[in-house]
Order: sequence, then structure tokens, then C-alpha cells
Amino acid sequence: MPTVLFLNACLREEQSRSLRLARCFLDRYTALHPEDTIIERNLGRERIEPLYADTFAAQEALLEAGKTDDPVFALSHQFTSADKLVIAAPFWEQSFPSVLRIYFERISGKNLTFYYDADGVSHGLSRAKKCLFLTTRGGYFNTPETQWLEMGANQLKAICHGLHIPEFRCISADGLDIITNDVEQIMAEALERCVEEAEQF
Ligand SMILES: Cc1cc2nc3c(=O)[nH]c(=O)nc-3n(C[C@H](O)[C@H](O)[C@H](O)COP(=O)(O)O)c2cc1C
Repeated sequence: MPTVLFLNACLREEQSRSLRLARCFLDRYTALHPEDTIIERNLGRERIEPLYADTFAAQEALLEAGKTDDPVFALSHQFTSADKLVIAAPFWEQSFPSVLRIYFERISGKNLTFYYDADGVSHGLSRAKKCLFLTTRGGYFNTPETQWLEMGANQLKAICHGLHIPEFRCISADGLDIITNDVEQIMAEALERCVEEAEQF
């Protein structure tokens, strides 16, 4: 049965507009693919530890010894065995909440998410071929002039590239904190795109 891994980094929880996009997408996706298993990780609650000098060294030693089945790598194996990846996070400090960054730091690694072949070429170990990112932003960062300031979706796209996940898609609702904007109208348009995306994802 195909597995969809849903990384929820929406720290405002049920008030989160990014989470609203994700729930809309997943509701439609689940209706269309009742056989799929959706695994949700609530990164805002799980308190996944960042790597420190000692835990990094311990992890490196395990990998050096080929012990990739150690329980410390369970998150990595869950990640690589997912068929599709869905991420929801708000735009924070030009990027996304740090819990999401920590998650990727913890799952990534040689012989966990990628390996080098005899010629030194890197290959991915993830089953997932596509990732959908759902986000909302206070200002506008999806125009040609402001796009360079956007390090949330752009960073995730780069991370997916590094993880050999070739297709990265993003739905965003921008300008939600600009008081003259019609927030519900902007959200309605983004929610519509979520429904459309579910039809083809
Ligand atoms: C801690 C924090 C940092 C934020 N940083 C930015 C920012 O750098 N640029 C921006 O346009 N909006 C920023 N915002 C506004 C959010 O992107 C916006 O309100 C978004 O819709 C929140 O998503 P949510 O409803 O899913 O929590 C920030 C909000 C918070 C709470």
C-alpha cells in the first residue's frame, strides 16, 4: 500500500492557515486514494533533538560501523520508505520553523538517504519521487522581484534535490498579513489549488 508521509510543521496548530491548506489537500487526496496510508509527524510537538557534538559523533560511529539498523535511524527509514512526501509549514524569518530543518538534519546521511557508488556518484535511497509543500506567508515572496528573499520553499526544493526527490511542487498563499488584503479570498484560491493538486499528485 502506498504511503504518504506528512510533515506537519505548523506550530499554530488548528489556527494555522498553512495547516488548513494541508488538511484540504489531504482530505481530497484521501477520498481519491483510500488505499494509501497517511503517516503524520507533528514536528511542532515531537521535540526531535538537533544534532550536538556528542550525538553527531555517536551517529557517525554507528554509520562507520555499518549499523544503519540502529533505532536512532528509525526516522530516516520511515522517510526513505514513504512513496510521497507532503510538507506544511508557515513562512517564518524568511524560511520555515526550525523544527523542520532539524527533522531533515536528523534523517539525512550517507547510507541512510543516499549512497555513493564505486565511481563516487551519489544516488538516493528514498522511494519518494515527489514532494508537495504547502505554505502561507505574511508578505509577498512569489514575485520575480521578491523571490530571492524566499528561503522556505527554495530551501526545501534544494533539500529534495539533495535527497534525489526529483519533483518539488509548492502551493502558497501570500500576503495574508497585509491588512488591506482579502485574506479569505486569497485562501479560497489557494484551497482550490490544493483540491486540483490532489487530483494529480
Ligand atoms: C515567528 C514568525 C515569523 C514570521 N516571519 C515572517 C517573515 O519573515 N515574512 C513574512 O512575510 N511573514 C512572516 N510571518 C507571518 C507568517 O508567514 C504568516 O502569518 C503565515 O500565514 C503564518 O502561517 P500559519 O497561519 O500557518 O501559522 C511570521 C510569523 C511568525 C509567527
